[in-house]
Amino acid sequence: MPAERTLHVADSNSTVLVFADADAAAKAAADRIARVAADAVKARGKAVLGLATGATPEKVYEELAARVKAGALSFRDVTTYNLDEYYPIQPLDPLSYRSYMHRHLFGRVDLAPNRAHVLDGTVPESAAAEHAAQFDRWIDADGGLDLQLLGIGRNGHIGFNEPADLSAEAFAALPTRLVDLHPITRADAVREFGSPEAVIPRALTMGVRQILAARSIVMLATGAKKAAIVAEALKGPVSAAVPASLLRTVADRVVWLLDEPAAAELG
Ligand code: F6R
Repeated sequence: MPAERTLHVADSNSTVLVFADADAAAKAAADRIARVAADAVKARGKAVLGLATGATPEKVYEELAARVKAGALSFRDVTTYNLDEYYPIQPLDPLSYRSYMHRHLFGRVDLAPNRAHVLDGTVPESAAAEHAAQFDRWIDADGGLDLQLLGIGRNGHIGFNEPADLSAEAFAALPTRLVDLHPITRADAVREFGSPEAVIPRALTMGVRQILAARSIVMLATGAKKAAIVAEALKGPVSAAVPASLLRTVADRVVWLLDEPAAAELG
């Protein structure tokens, strides 16, 4: 799926591809995931993919599942690690990211269940730090992520790495861990949870260190609601106050896939 246009955002060094609509951007994300997976399997016998949840990637998973069904793609040699999970939450809760992934991808493709890693929202709090550290060790032992798929929160979060009052260097080193969700993240989660009181206010998230270490990063952002934060991340200061701006520190490994409404404030 060719991009409609390639944007050169001054000083960002980032590759920004703009598509006519969200479907075309999602198809382009699926193309990249399929290509990176095939290349990694060819080169070292397996592919390690970092995956995201939320509304934005639903079409990506639909596309990948359709390709598997058509025999054009296989997850046989793929291992996956998801960015985040609410905490605490049971995996069978329909609002868990484990069940989201089952509905949208895991239940529809030939991925081995023991290679589909989602942070566990049921670990006791006293074991959460060790569980998170183990998640990082598993990814490292798997040779790191070949590709990380990302969405962007309206506050600029990536995974649930929320805006923070830290130096960019300290922020870039954050490990996988238990976090408190930012008020904007909680407000946006009302869409899934039904009411502000029902939103689970904490989550386990993959750390910024692991995300930035991925050999390829695909940031998919669609819709007018993302236009302001996309512009801030690409044109504002690189700062922990806008987590996605840190992607500019590894710009040679990142591609931004946007639809026209999300690109509207880039000029
Ligand atoms: C989800 C995740 C989040 C979302 C972001 C955008 O696993 O890590 O960072 O990517 O909140 O969500 P949507 O796509 O629902 O706008």
